[in-house]
Amino acid sequence: MPTIPNSAINGVITGWGRALPETIVTNDDLAKTLDTSDEWIRERTGIEQRHIGGTTASLSIESGRRALEMSGVDPLSIDALILATTTPDRTVPATSAAVQHGLGLRCGAFDLNAACSGFVYGLVTAHGLIAIGMRNILVIGTDTLSRITDWTDRNTAILFADGSGAAVIQATDGPGQLLGWDIDADGSLEDLLYADIGKTLYMEGKEVFRRAVRIMVDSAEKSLKAAGLTTSDITLVAPHQANIRIIEAACKRLDIPMSKTSWVGDKTGNTSSASIPLALFEAADNGRLKTGDNVLLVGFGAGMTAASAVIKWKQP
Ligand code: UT7
Repeated sequence: MPTIPNSAINGVITGWGRALPETIVTNDDLAKTLDTSDEWIRERTGIEQRHIGGTTASLSIESGRRALEMSGVDPLSIDALILATTTPDRTVPATSAAVQHGLGLRCGAFDLNAACSGFVYGLVTAHGLIAIGMRNILVIGTDTLSRITDWTDRNTAILFADGSGAAVIQATDGPGQLLGWDIDADGSLEDLLYADIGKTLYMEGKEVFRRAVRIMVDSAEKSLKAAGLTTSDITLVAPHQANIRIIEAACKRLDIPMSKTSWVGDKTGNTSSASIPLALFEAADNGRLKTGDNVLLVGFGAGMTAASAVIKWKQP
């Protein structure tokens, strides 16, 4: 289990931004062309509507610009851009190239694909870059899953959607935010959820569901242990917004009341790499977080990847 040396330079989120496409597709809209219903989707997933549209670059530029403005960091002072996405706009180059240009950054930029765990992978990677000397990192989680969804497949079309969330993470000489973290993957489970190049998503929903609960609990427990905390120390959980029943089952096992979770999936659907930052920053924007709160971020995704982090919130 990796632990964070006390001497390590740490980081803190100083600005954030969210972006969702304008077009809203409701469950009733889907029921016009699919053998499904608003009632079934709400009951089995908690999702009521989703936002569809845009490109991974355009949504990333929108959320990234908001994060930069909030932090007050000059774009020329950003040392690295990490774009977590599983839906790049092109095979080559990385979509981060277009985002770097669109935001006026002059820094190293790369895509990171860890599916729905991507934003937390990016957060952990950003702290690694800070530990070796960088000062200002922009981490963005964006997906446009609508472009790789088969809209005639009710198993997947009811779940997936588009969105973006971004954070500026700055080095701090004082106490940092990252208390514990975990990243993991089990490539032997690749065939449970995948899209071949140029094709749409295939998912074994029931099996993904079953494993997701266990994976989230395991990862959260590792991060909590690394942080030296227990679930009772956690003020807010920002979980991957896949299905409210997965979150309920994981929180039950972790003994965390649902009142401590941020659930935005009813309005956004599953936006993969964007889902954890959308949940975290909606909670922050709604005044649910104050300096000193311990926040648990936890996700799972295709791969099958898992990632979690415990951060000590610092209100900018
Ligand atoms: O980022 C990670 C990505 N993926 C996930 O997290 C997905 C994890 N899995 C899930 O969220 C759930 O498994 C689904 C939402 C995909 C499916 O829910 P479920 O409760 O596991 O449903 P099920 O597959 O067990 O199906 C129950 C019934 C079946 O009918 P019968 O055999 O009982 O008559 C299905 O044919 O519901 C039927 N069904 C539907 N009915 C209306 C399956 N999908 C639908 C649908 N609308 N969209």
